Amino acid sequence: MVRGSFAERSERGRRVRRFGPILHGRLQRVSETISAGAAGTWTLGDLTVNRIGFGAMRLPQHDRAFAADAASRDRDQAITVLRKAVELGVNHIDTAAFYFSRLRSANELINRALAPYPEDLVIATKVGPGRDSSGEWLPMATPQQLRGQVEENLRQLGRDQLDLVNLRVSGPGAITEQFEALATLRAAGLIRHLGISAARPDHLAQAQAIAPVVCVQNPYGLGFRSAQDALVRACGAQGIAFVPFFAIAGVGREAGGSGTENDEVLSIARAHGATPVQVRLAWALHRGPHVLVIPGTGSPEHLVDNVAAASLRLTSDDLTRLETVHQAEQ
Ligand SMILES: NC(=O)c1ccc[n+]([C@@H]2O[C@H](COP(=O)([O-])OP(=O)(O)OC[C@H]3O[C@@H](n4cnc5c(N)ncnc54)[C@H](OP(=O)(O)O)[C@@H]3O)[C@@H](O)[C@H]2O)c1
Repeated sequence: MVRGSFAERSERGRRVRRFGPILHGRLQRVSETISAGAAGTWTLGDLTVNRIGFGAMRLPQHDRAFAADAASRDRDQAITVLRKAVELGVNHIDTAAFYFSRLRSANELINRALAPYPEDLVIATKVGPGRDSSGEWLPMATPQQLRGQVEENLRQLGRDQLDLVNLRVSGPGAITEQFEALATLRAAGLIRHLGISAARPDHLAQAQAIAPVVCVQNPYGLGFRSAQDALVRACGAQGIAFVPFFAIAGVGREAGGSGTENDEVLSIARAHGATPVQVRLAWALHRGPHVLVIPGTGSPEHLVDNVAAASLRLTSDDLTRLETVHQAEQ
């Protein structure tokens, strides 16, 4: 049972984070309090996940994902973040073989930190884009090359089957041939469930004509890509998960958050004793029970804050004020 108001629990979390290393028993008690399960669950095909998940793109480097000269992040800290995420109830991790810096690979870190994997852990990965060994982007994978990308993820994660593979779309062209190739790999048992990412409504229709789609993973957040609202609703109506990325970073995209925050968000955060980031995550979760967030961080403190957002309940007045912020998107 979750005890205390959001502000009280957050303060308890902050106190323990400050003294976490020397108060291990206390940290475990907070883990019982701050839980990814506090926002409820959703089922991806036959796999049930807590609605607060984790995005692994930030683990290999600090911000500036994919910048050739981005400094690699500390390996032990990345492993700590992953293990703490699972300890806090995160059982939906988003990754990709193309998430790597010069010295770190997200998939390798996940494997090192979490294998043998917990029974309930769902690892979602993406295929389509690819990078060569020096990090340069390659042309989108052909249908024939998708098998190699799936196998690359299997090798790096140390699995025989991938729980969920998103076809990461690039541009408005039809995805029929690529999705058919993934459906074939699914039928062969290499993949359990399929999704699409950076996709348009017509891509969803093309994919659904070939195989079941359990999620759409698209850029979306408070005041960011409000044109996605209709697709978010359409996914909910069809029982498909909508998984927003950049729900914190917004227009900052790969560069991360700007550090400046909207006054309305600040005011609502203050009223709840929460952070603006927590308000952004809670807002996304309030868009519907099928919305699963995957905040990305390489920071243990940010991770705890993000998971704590699972229990932040916004009022109808908050949501009305935030809708104005959302629709006023620049
Ligand atoms: N399908 C796609 O094409 C696609 C594209 C991009 C991302 N993704 C996936 O979506 C996930 C989420 O996207 P994202 O990581 O780019 O963006 P995000 O979750 O919106 O934001 C991450 C940024 O916010 C910072 N941050 C995280 N938690 C914070 C907190 N509590 N307080 C302050 N700052 C905080 C992070 O820095 P710190 O690391 O310092 O905390 C990082 O700069 C990715 O990790 C990836 O798995 C998918």
